[in-house]
Amino acid sequence: MLSSKQTLLSISLITLLLSLLLVNSNSLTIEIPPIPLIPDILNFIDLRLAIIFPIIQTFKNTITSDPLGITTTWVGPNICNYKGFYCDNPPDNLTATTVASIDFNGFHLAAPSLDGFIDQLPDLALFHANSNNFSGTISSKLASLKYLYELDLSNNFLSGTFPISILNIPTLSFLDIRYNLFTGTVPQQIFTQTLDAIFLNNNNFILTLPDNLGDTKASYITLANNKFTGAIPSTIGKASSNLIEVLLLNNLLDGCLPYEIGFLENVKLFDAGSNRLTGPLPFSFGCLKNVEQLNFASNMLYGQVPEVVCALGNLANLSLSYNYFNRVGPICKKLIRSGVVDVRNNCILDVPDQRPLKECVAFYSVPRTCLRSRTFSIIPCHTPKAREINKRNLLSYSALQRNRLLL
Ligand SMILES: *[C@@H]1O[C@H](CO)[C@@H](O)[C@H](O)[C@H]1NC(C)=O
Ligand SMILES: *[C@@H]1O[C@H](CO)[C@@H](O)[C@H](O)[C@H]1NC(C)=O
Ligand SMILES: *[C@@H]1O[C@H](CO)[C@@H](O)[C@H](O)[C@H]1NC(C)=O
Repeated sequence: MLSSKQTLLSISLITLLLSLLLVNSNSLTIEIPPIPLIPDILNFIDLRLAIIFPIIQTFKNTITSDPLGITTTWVGPNICNYKGFYCDNPPDNLTATTVASIDFNGFHLAAPSLDGFIDQLPDLALFHANSNNFSGTISSKLASLKYLYELDLSNNFLSGTFPISILNIPTLSFLDIRYNLFTGTVPQQIFTQTLDAIFLNNNNFILTLPDNLGDTKASYITLANNKFTGAIPSTIGKASSNLIEVLLLNNLLDGCLPYEIGFLENVKLFDAGSNRLTGPLPFSFGCLKNVEQLNFASNMLYGQVPEVVCALGNLANLSLSYNYFNRVGPICKKLIRSGVVDVRNNCILDVPDQRPLKECVAFYSVPRTCLRSRTFSIIPCHTPKAREINKRNLLSYSALQRNRLLL
């Protein structure tokens, strides 16, 4: 009895399933339905989108926090409408459609890794992920992204060593990995690669500044708040045509300032505050005709503040506090009074707010010299005429904030 009832039930269930199948399909073959990772290949406007669909969905399943509900839009075949995803025609086929750019800035997504995601989107040109909770290390497979142009991983919890895979991406122009937990050394090839912007600040990088630093083609270099050591190499002068903003503050740099910094005629911002630099301020800095902000505060610099530096036409802020300078001339004095030049806590007798005499005597009682001492008084240019200060917002200081950079 019981068994015949069960058979009856089974038969009616099968009939029901079959009739359902007949409504939905022309075929009678019954197959175990596949896990619908690719819903319907025909619904994708391009094969390239169909291929990356499962990659995006797999990544979506690893996201542990999505406070803004971003991933609720990551459904269906219309990937170009997903929040944060942008489509374009790839360079190798101008009639195809692909995900060319991803902008997750400020989405606060949390995921244990970006591995298997961005490295599997072969046409990606831009990846911006400022202020998310991404962690893990960066895959070496990133090197296969042949169009990657901008990589912004700033303000996340990424760890491990410097993502050396980016060294093999010749198109890469913008590298921003500041505010992460990266450790270890930085490969010096970073300065021979044709990057326009290198933002490495606020990590735990350790590197003795290499001599090839001056080979850089970058306009913006921000190494602040790490553990960079050694002296600023004299080769930096070779980058005179490109460097605009250089942030070296809060590292462990030592040695004397190379007079070749004075060759950087396009530099607007040079900040090497809070290091262990010593020696005089080279007169050559009087050639930095475009400089607006110069910061060498909290080092061990000494001697006179060159008048040619204070006479720079675009100078808006010369910060030399907490050093051991002992002389200033009338041009500098005028700027001290107007607040452009800050020489607090030095050893200048006729200026207020200086170090106690005892500290100054102790400092100057130790003999101190720099190599190439002759170069400190060379002025390798015609001293520039004062110009109007055209106020502009410097970019690199905003790199010291966690937020995304507005270029
Ligand atoms: C370019 O992309 C279109 C759209 O996906 C495709 O139909 C076409 O076959 C592709 N051409 C080549 C040469 O791959
Ligand atoms: C992001 O990570 C930090 C540190 O691990 C944690 O304190 C915070 O709760 C995380 N936020 C989210 C939304 O997961
Ligand atoms: C000048 O620069 C120093 C060092 O960067 C900074 O602390 C200070 O606030 C700046 N002063 C002005 C008036 O912008």
